[in-house]
Amino acid sequence: MNEEEPFNKYYAQYEEWFERNRSVYLSEIKALEHFIPKKGRGLEVGIGSGRFAQPLGIEEGVDPSEEMRKIAQRRGLKVYDGVAEDLPFPKKSFDYCLMVTTICFVEDVNKTLKEIYRVLKNKGNLITGLVDKDSLLGKEYQKHKNENVFYKHAKFYATEDVKQLLKENNFVNLKIIQTVFGELGKINTIQDFKEGYGEGGFVVIKAEKTDIISR
Ligand SMILES: C[S@@+](CC[C@H](N)C(=O)[O-])C[C@H]1O[C@@H](n2cnc3c(N)ncnc32)[C@H](O)[C@@H]1O
Repeated sequence: MNEEEPFNKYYAQYEEWFERNRSVYLSEIKALEHFIPKKGRGLEVGIGSGRFAQPLGIEEGVDPSEEMRKIAQRRGLKVYDGVAEDLPFPKKSFDYCLMVTTICFVEDVNKTLKEIYRVLKNKGNLITGLVDKDSLLGKEYQKHKNENVFYKHAKFYATEDVKQLLKENNFVNLKIIQTVFGELGKINTIQDFKEGYGEGGFVVIKAEKTDIISR
């Protein structure tokens, strides 16, 4: 994350996006929900203000932004100051980890995936939600990247890139769904997700830690 810490400065603007794009937000939750295990200890990495963790029943999260953590705390969540590249937990602590629109903000994505792998139990899952760089929405975000206080610091990834990174970091059994079809401003209903990627702006990838390689 850049020195300017945009999430500390513009947290109110961040929150407001969800009010303006409520159907998009609820469509994303619906897709994420599909992959979130019904039980077990979960952690959101880059939990932000807890907009996703709370409705998805995840009680713990890590985030470097103090202002975002304060909002998450007000939502009743247990949040730790930290970064994805150096998670403040012993190995094999969690049944699953969630990362939503955070992969594009971490400084070192390989370190991040190695750390998540370390804190997951064997057969634990990583669920990643991201704006696919190759989608219509991803292209739109990139076009206006420099005007956006948040996204000017982001490095967008395509689903193909994330698939590759997950495999290189020993994650297996990848499953992928997509949602957010069409232009953001025209989405007024909660959309159904569908399998695969290439059409939806928001993609969710579920990947599993093998029990063969132990860190
Ligand atoms: C776009 S927000 C997403 C927040 C939340 N997951 C959500 O979807 O509302 C990105 C978050 O990543 C956090 N972040 C930035 N760099 C990070 C890092 N290296 N490790 C963990 N989180 C980071 C930011 O502080 C911010 O809260």
